[in-house]
Amino acid sequence: MKKESTKSSVTPWEVKGRIDYDRLIEEFGVERLNSFTLDRIKKHAKELHFMLKRKIFFAHRDLNWVLDEYEKGNHFFIYTGRGPSGPIHLGHLGTWIFTKWLQDKFNAELWFQFTDDEKFLFKQNMSMEDAEKWTYENMLDVIALGFDPKKTHFIVDTKNADLIYPVALKFAKKINFSTVKAAFGMSNENNIGQIFYTSMQAAPAVIPSVLKKKNIPCLIPLAIDQDPHFRVARDVYMKLGYYKPAIIHGMFLPPLSGVSGKMDSSGDQINSILTTDSPKEVEMKIKKYAFSGGQATIEEHRKKGGNPDIDVSFQYLRMLFEPDDEKLAKLEKDYRSGKLLTSELKEILIKKINDFLKDHQAKRKLAEKQIDKFLYK
Ligand code: TRP
Repeated sequence: MKKESTKSSVTPWEVKGRIDYDRLIEEFGVERLNSFTLDRIKKHAKELHFMLKRKIFFAHRDLNWVLDEYEKGNHFFIYTGRGPSGPIHLGHLGTWIFTKWLQDKFNAELWFQFTDDEKFLFKQNMSMEDAEKWTYENMLDVIALGFDPKKTHFIVDTKNADLIYPVALKFAKKINFSTVKAAFGMSNENNIGQIFYTSMQAAPAVIPSVLKKKNIPCLIPLAIDQDPHFRVARDVYMKLGYYKPAIIHGMFLPPLSGVSGKMDSSGDQINSILTTDSPKEVEMKIKKYAFSGGQATIEEHRKKGGNPDIDVSFQYLRMLFEPDDEKLAKLEKDYRSGKLLTSELKEILIKKINDFLKDHQAKRKLAEKQIDKFLYK
């Protein structure tokens, strides 16, 4: 087993090392998603998304409360977002595919925040113009996933500042620098925009309540690295007279190189598959870079079998591209037994990704004409 050289760390701006999700549950003080809560979701949705069954969404805050309210007829809206720092890769899609499922099953409004300010403030080389460009590009990917324009509102921090800023100010006034420092490991060297930023991310969870002038429950699907913003803002929601938002936490899709850290497009391209990649690029990246849990030679593989737990191709199928539980179980069994070779597993994944991307890229093109319907005005 390769020794992990980097210390693991999970913050909204950095995810590295081998991620211990059990430890994160403890550290962040969130609840593990158990079968009681899953059954409640199933009762209303009539089925469970495979990401719930497989515990890819694995933890939560106040999910039972939001379901209590739902059962009383006090329906929630959904809030999530994207920091437009670069192109969209497969790692981003899981949360949003799941978000779309929630929108459909619970007939919920979705508020989707694009934090161009965040990426401008936190990324050394990001200009406002770049952030604007990526906001547009990233919107195409979100739309391509099929969200209902009648129930979905895109808000862009700098473009919808008249809406967001006054709400963010209320949060900012009640969060101390010392709290932000401790939660995010900030220091006196951080720029002052970064210190303020959490209040911008906290705000959309109450914006529908502000607009409707009555409290509406909110559910936030996110990858667990984003949780600290809401942990910091948690008490403030109450102090300001709003509900605390409920949160459902997902895992990270591993980078091509292996099971630690997360897929990241702003860093190195060879660790991620972009939604704009061609079939050839996908094939090359998977064949060349996807970490294999197989054995060094075919003979050895047939004898000892492979390890799907650390095999990136298998993990992509499990987390994203093979929703069918029976098919997945068969792949797992055959891989472990040595019947299925790494090269064969990779071919299966390549086909799945390319089928998905063909459709996605066509929808992404059509999305250019739809953006206007999604923008909050
Ligand atoms: N900060 C997130 C990112 O860097 C974007 C974001 C804004 C977000 N609001 C959110 C993510 C709410 C999850 C939930 O991508």
